[in-house]
Amino acid sequence: MDVRTILPKRRVGLADVGRLTARLPAPVSDRVWGTVLQWRMKQGGWTLVPQDDLRRVYREAVRQLGGEVQAYAEFGIYAGDSLGIMADVLAEAGSSAPMFGFDSFRGLPDSVTDDEGGWQPGAFYCPEWVTRWNLSTNHGVGPDRITLIPGWFDESLTPGLAGELGIERISIAQLDADAYSSTVPVLDWLTPLLADRAVLIFDDWFAGGNTEEIGIGVQRAFEEWLERRPEFTAEAFATYGFGPGAGRKEVVGKAFIVSRTPA
Ligand SMILES: C[S@@+](CC[C@H](N)C(=O)[O-])C[C@H]1O[C@@H](n2cnc3c(N)ncnc32)[C@H](O)[C@@H]1O
Repeated sequence: MDVRTILPKRRVGLADVGRLTARLPAPVSDRVWGTVLQWRMKQGGWTLVPQDDLRRVYREAVRQLGGEVQAYAEFGIYAGDSLGIMADVLAEAGSSAPMFGFDSFRGLPDSVTDDEGGWQPGAFYCPEWVTRWNLSTNHGVGPDRITLIPGWFDESLTPGLAGELGIERISIAQLDADAYSSTVPVLDWLTPLLADRAVLIFDDWFAGGNTEEIGIGVQRAFEEWLERRPEFTAEAFATYGFGPGAGRKEVVGKAFIVSRTPA
């Protein structure tokens, strides 16, 4: 087969190669693609997040909760950079709240083709071993500090999982799985676990040309959840993005305080 027929017409980037290798059997692609990704990170980083601005919002999230964080959960962790930043912010605040990271470790699922955001199946594929390597090498976070839970959210987020992990309440959740279809099961799973006053952060609030007027993707997932769950109210307290120093000026994420009305 002529490989050009399966490659995109535009310039091929690392994300495209990740998407294509995600189609190979996991033991093969995890080793091959993981080694490429690890090499690229050693060359100077391969981070997706606006690190300084995210750190500012994470600090503000902890402050909004008066420093009382029962647990942190992140859905969509890729190589673990946002997870590593939160580990640092919690340490700085003197918090040893348990931390959990959920990911397929196979990139975005096939269902994202139905999403409005133009997402590609397999994009952001990062093998679990590279995430663990990045967390420990670049963030100084060892396996004892964070529990990683591999799997597709619609399969891994079972009703019994919180009990198995010893989670009673989650105070801060970062929802960074990009697509509407990946965000819906996360919000449903979180519902009984959210602390009475919790922080929800949506990394892709403004992704794919989305605006508050258009309201697609994760915005739509959150708005529908709030309609289904009238016991919760939400108030935005911060946005974050890539500043001009990063060569671009773009707001990507938005953070909310979510409060549960007493019954
Ligand atoms: C944009 S990346 C996360 C970036 C990361 N939070 C960071 O800032 O470095 C999105 C991640 O979501 C994961 N993901 C998306 N949909 C998923 C699903 N339905 N089940 C499991 N993982 C999913 C992908 O594997 C990918 O690692």
